[in-house]
Amino acid sequence: MIELKNIRKIYEANKFDRVTALDNINLTVQEGELIVLKGASGSGKSTILSLIAALSKPTSGEVIVDAKQISKLSDNFSSVYRRDNIGFIFQKYNLIPTLSVKDNILLPLVSLNPHAKEVEEKIQSVMKRFHIEHKENAIVRNLSGGEQQRVAIARAYVNNPKIIIADEPTANLDEKLSHHFIDILRELKALNKTIIIATHDPLFFGLDFVDRELEIHKGKIVL
Ligand SMILES: Nc1ncnc2c1ncn2[C@@H]1O[C@H](COP(=O)(O)OP(=O)(O)OP(=O)(O)O)[C@@H](O)[C@H]1O
Ligand SMILES: [Mg+2]
Repeated sequence: MIELKNIRKIYEANKFDRVTALDNINLTVQEGELIVLKGASGSGKSTILSLIAALSKPTSGEVIVDAKQISKLSDNFSSVYRRDNIGFIFQKYNLIPTLSVKDNILLPLVSLNPHAKEVEEKIQSVMKRFHIEHKENAIVRNLSGGEQQRVAIARAYVNNPKIIIADEPTANLDEKLSHHFIDILRELKALNKTIIIATHDPLFFGLDFVDRELEIHKGKIVL
């Protein structure tokens, strides 16, 4: 279970330049729930995702995941938390363009021995699941947008995380690939993953397997 309690996030470039990105957010997400966060550009969606992934800390309030205070973790423990719990699919995929498909998927597992049989098996299995195994040794820079996205999904999934977070996952995809991504989501939901998606894309609205759609407006949940 994920709990955001009285979250405020203020970005402060200097004394005169403060942005209240989140203003008293309260949100509970149950295990296995799929939530879509909607809202205008700048409303605070990505900020919510980064707090849940422990990529940033709230100015005040608490982020609690499975009864653990994520918002109080040191940087080291934050990375351990991410490795063990979170699969993050970024809008621009955040892949390393000069590495192969396989090496990009290996990244979340770097703390394990890359030559171990178990690691190799995990990678082969996610490449198959997301239909990218034929590009195993291709350099990511040379892949199409849809292929890169499948690598990003495979990488987010390789640790078998309980929580999957996607920030504008279809922003760079055409309609066919967007539908394909939605099929993958349906599959992940059936695996009882907790999924949180930030998006403007109307394709995500009104889907039968989405549990809740929340509207964010100027740092507050309005719906
Ligand atoms: N690192 C930062 N420093 C200063 N301000 C920031 C920072 N990150 C975000 N903001 C501001 O916080 C507010 C919320 O940003 P956020 O990225 O969460 O919005 P969003 O809903 O994800 O928008 P979009 O739909 O465009 O991705 C915006 O006003 C943004 O300019
Ligand atoms: Mg955003």
